[in-house]
Amino acid sequence: MPSAARTTIDAVEVSGKTVLVRVDFNVPMSEGEITDDSRIRAAVPTIQSILDRGGSCVLMSHLGRPSGNGFEAAFTLAPAAARLAEILGRQVDLPSGDCVDEVSIAAVGSIDPGGVILLENLRFHGAEKKGDADFAARLASYGELYCQDAFGAAHRADASMVAVPEAMAGRPRTAGRLLEAELKYLSGAIDSPERPFVAVLGGAKISDKLATIRHLAGRVDTLVVGGAMAFTLLRAMGHGTGRSLVEESMIDEARAIIEAVEATSTTLLLPADFVCAGSPAAGVETSISGRNIEPGLMGLDIGPASISAFVAAIREARTVVWNGPMGLFEISPFDAGTLAVAKAMIDATTAGATSVIGGGDTAAAVNGLGLASGFTHVSTGGGASLRMLEGGPMPGVEALDRA
Ligand code: 3PG
Repeated sequence: MPSAARTTIDAVEVSGKTVLVRVDFNVPMSEGEITDDSRIRAAVPTIQSILDRGGSCVLMSHLGRPSGNGFEAAFTLAPAAARLAEILGRQVDLPSGDCVDEVSIAAVGSIDPGGVILLENLRFHGAEKKGDADFAARLASYGELYCQDAFGAAHRADASMVAVPEAMAGRPRTAGRLLEAELKYLSGAIDSPERPFVAVLGGAKISDKLATIRHLAGRVDTLVVGGAMAFTLLRAMGHGTGRSLVEESMIDEARAIIEAVEATSTTLLLPADFVCAGSPAAGVETSISGRNIEPGLMGLDIGPASISAFVAAIREARTVVWNGPMGLFEISPFDAGTLAVAKAMIDATTAGATSVIGGGDTAAAVNGLGLASGFTHVSTGGGASLRMLEGGPMPGVEALDRA
C-alpha cells in the first residue's frame, strides 16, 4: 500500500496554520474512565510535530457507536481531552457537545498558534457514518490542512475519513506519523518480508480469519494457528474436539481452507496438544490432551508440545506477524500459550527479526501480560490491522492516495 503520492505531515509547512487531524481516540472505557490510553499516546508524535512547528491542531475522532441522534454522555470525548492534556502538558479544549455547532465553529475560528481543540464525538451525527458530503464540508472548513492519523479507523469510509479529505481538495492532505508507521510495518511485512516469514493467528472464530488465511497462504512461509479457531480446523480434519468451541457451520469452509493452504508453499502448523478442563474457570483441574479431546473436556489453551513447536517456528523467523490469542489468556493457567508466543516474538525481535502485533485483542493480551514492549510494532488498529492482513480495502488510506 505504499504511495508515491502520499504526503506526510512532516513534509509540509504548518507554521501559523490550523491542521484538521483525524485521530482514533476510540479508547476502551469503564465507568467513564479510560482503561487503555495507547491510542491517545500513539497520536501524540503527530500532534507534537505540528505544535513544535508553530501550527495549531483541531482534532476529530469517534468514540464507540452512539445512536447518531445527538449528544450522549456515555460517549463523550471529554475523558480523552483530559488525558491528552495531561500527556501534552497543555490545555486541550472540547468546545461543546456538537462538533459542528456555533460554539465549535467559534472556538476553531479563534484558535491560537499552539492551541489544541478536540471536537466532540463525530458519531453524535449520523452523517459521519453515512459519509455525508455536507457534514464533511462543515468539518473541512476548520482546517487549512488535513492530516489523517486514525489508522484504527482507516478501514471505515466514514465522512471524516473520506469525504473530508475530498472536500479539502486544493489544500494539503497528509498522513500523520502513526498512520505512516502502521502502514510501513503492516504492509511492509506482507508485501516485502524478510524470510522466513511466519504469521501466528489465534482467537475464537475461524470465520473472522478466513480472509486473512486466504490472503496469507502462499505469502508466509509458516502459518501458525492456535486459539479456539484451531478446533474448527481440527474437526474438519476428523478429530474429536470434546466440548471445545467449534463453529459447526464453518466446518466445510475450514476443510476447504486447509486444502487451499496446502496447495501453496505455506506450511500450516496446527496445535498438537491442548490444556483441557471441564469448564473455563480459574482453579479448575486441568489435563493435557492430544488432538483428540475427550467428550467431557474443552481445550482452553495450546499444550506444551504445541508451545515448543510454535516457539521454534517464531524464533527462526525474520518477520513475524501475530493476530489473536492462543487460548483463554484472561484466565490463568490458560494464558501460558499466549505468553510463550509473546516471549518468543520478543526473543526473535532481539535477534533482529521484525515483529508486528495486530491491535485489538492481541495488543490487549500483550498489555495484560505486562509485555507491551520488545516488539518492533504494536498496531493500534484491531479491525484495521486485520483488514490489512486480509489485503482488503482501506478507504481512509485510499482517500489520501487519491489526494
Ligand atoms: C476500532 O476500534 O476498531 C476503530 O476505532 C473503528 O471503530 P468501529 O468498529 O466502531 O468503526
